[in-house]
Amino acid sequence: MAIPVPLPRVVKFENDAYGMFIHWGIYSQLGQGEWIQHLKGIPMDEYVKLKDSFTADQFDAYKIAMTAKNAGMKYIVLTTRHHDGFSLYDTRGLSDFDAIHSPAGRDLIAEFVDGCRKAGITPFFYHTTLDWYQPSFNEDFDAYLEYLRASIEVLCTHYGPVGGFWFDGNWSKPDADWKLDELYGTIRRLQPEAMIINNTGLSHLGELGHPELDSVTFEQGRPTPLNREGMSKYVAAEMCQTINGHWGIGNHDFSNKSTGELIENLCACRKVGANYLLNVGPTAGGQIPKLQEATLEVVGDWIRLHNKPIYEGKPSLIKGQGDNFALETEDGRTYLFIHRLSIDGHANVTTGDGGTGPKAFTGVHQEISSVRWLDNNEELSFTHDPQSGLLCFQATGYPYGDNLVVRIAVIS
Ligand code: GLC
Repeated sequence: MAIPVPLPRVVKFENDAYGMFIHWGIYSQLGQGEWIQHLKGIPMDEYVKLKDSFTADQFDAYKIAMTAKNAGMKYIVLTTRHHDGFSLYDTRGLSDFDAIHSPAGRDLIAEFVDGCRKAGITPFFYHTTLDWYQPSFNEDFDAYLEYLRASIEVLCTHYGPVGGFWFDGNWSKPDADWKLDELYGTIRRLQPEAMIINNTGLSHLGELGHPELDSVTFEQGRPTPLNREGMSKYVAAEMCQTINGHWGIGNHDFSNKSTGELIENLCACRKVGANYLLNVGPTAGGQIPKLQEATLEVVGDWIRLHNKPIYEGKPSLIKGQGDNFALETEDGRTYLFIHRLSIDGHANVTTGDGGTGPKAFTGVHQEISSVRWLDNNEELSFTHDPQSGLLCFQATGYPYGDNLVVRIAVIS
């Protein structure tokens, strides 16, 4: 059965490959994640007071967009409204629980979009569909859905073209009629090029949904390959992940993922053609925490050594062993991703797990004349039988002074 051809917006999304997720709101002042109101049972009339101390005085959207850009990210998904019901945008009369009515007194989504445009990065809007603040969510669901649709209409009409809408929360009422035709129809009418994504949550990874959706989600879980044969439309895939254990800032969350782990996660996504959406949780004032910023920068340095296969590489029929895998680009090149090599160097100063040596790939039927590392152009010796498709090349380790975590070879 045929695999459907992706729409241009989906092609662009897949080639964007790597994005920044940002969870930021009045909850950031408590520094205990975005679910704190709910999990600690803070009464809403007490919680709303956080609006009166929300100044956003450190929020510099252009600076954040440039951080993302230098990290190799091509899009940013920002929480325009999260489950606590507070909006970072001017809701234009729909509610006064928004940034305009806080001491910030600014439309932070307008700033976000401007900052992204200036930096040349695509803005996406995360929007909750569940709401702990609006009584209508539990008491008059139809009225609530109209409030939600009108909120999305505001976002569709005041900020120019956006990359997409990233919804989250339908899992809170799995049996409800969310009137998705109307919600998604509003977007298709006003923002025809926007991606529409709906997070299916931690326990429904990669699940398909409404026919308007352009991508499936893998929340906190490495993506598996999608079988698109016979689908009515080509959908992309995206894994979103926290950089530590929280989406909104956790002041005492000391368990940041290492740059090596993030590089491996990015590769695991690209292996199956999925995007990687990596989250940061800005401080109450709106700054990305320094350690998170620095971590992203280092991953960006790794990406710069390997640009082409990371953004343009597509899953290949050529297969490696273990975590090793191949991607192909449209110009017919094949890139081999090699994990767990060791550092070559003096025995007294380097350690490694000894993973150098022959690496086997199957399905390599084209004639090849060279295999070389992308980062330093070193030629690697190989044996190859185009008939059987078996390629075996000698993977050297990293030169002393480097540790690339995942090293990429190009076949030509
Ligand atoms: C979850 C959480 C939420 C977070 C989201 C990001 O569904 O409810 O707080 O925004 O995942 O993927």
